Amino acid sequence: MPKRPGAIKCRSGKTKVTMSDAELQIFADLETLSHAVARQFAAIATQAVAAHRRFSVVLSGGGTPQTLYRLLAQQPYRDQLPWAQTHVFWGDERCVAPDHAQSNYYQARVALLNHVAILPNHIYRVQSELEPASAASDYAGQLQIFAARGQAWPRFDLVLLGMGNDGHTASLFPGPIAPAEQTAPTLAVTTAYQGRPAKRVTLTPLVFNAARHIFFLATGASKAAALAAVLYGPHDPEQWPAQRIQPTQGSLIWFVDQAAAAQI
Ligand code: 6PG
Repeated sequence: MPKRPGAIKCRSGKTKVTMSDAELQIFADLETLSHAVARQFAAIATQAVAAHRRFSVVLSGGGTPQTLYRLLAQQPYRDQLPWAQTHVFWGDERCVAPDHAQSNYYQARVALLNHVAILPNHIYRVQSELEPASAASDYAGQLQIFAARGQAWPRFDLVLLGMGNDGHTASLFPGPIAPAEQTAPTLAVTTAYQGRPAKRVTLTPLVFNAARHIFFLATGASKAAALAAVLYGPHDPEQWPAQRIQPTQGSLIWFVDQAAAAQI
């Protein structure tokens, strides 16, 4: 169960009470935010490889992380990050062909993965050309193979998440919480959002919340109302899916820009 109430530590040093233990970092804009995330991404990658010889990361879709992905493909990260020990998954995927411009896998490939020394067999993509239910089941199988013996899914070193204007995250959308969300690692979902492909596969909070570190990235004025509600509003995870993200034994940091933080 989420710990309530908890504390949000602002960059200014102010502490505010909110619905969970989390840290909030506020930046002037997407560019400075992305540089800060890249530095913290690199620190976690290095620590993970030192601690257990590999770094497992879950990427998010959407427009917000693309600047981060492009930064990670450049120096110093391109040469300094432990790409050969890095294993990449996705928090959600749109069910389109893997070379479709709206594929989360494709977008991450173009911005990042094509430019670094990651091993092809360390890229665990959702088989998005399949029907969502089959793709979800295949992805659950990939998680199990990667997980520690006896576990159904891995404890990821780092999970990147975004948030929609409606408070959704990954492909966990507002509305009644599907029972499978509380029992299965992956889920097939159909929801229309901003003209993006509606058929999707998502990891569930069971997997996200087991991670060592979770970074939420949210920018722009259109996210301001949802951000205030998610962080400071009543606990209502059906209406605000981002509130379903509560790491059980990990850290959660929100990286937001001033426009998104305007109503906090
Ligand atoms: C997706 C996502 C989704 C995304 C948010 C925010 O596949 O669409 O993973 O959850 O993170 O919709 O998207 P933006 O960064 O484009 O606002």
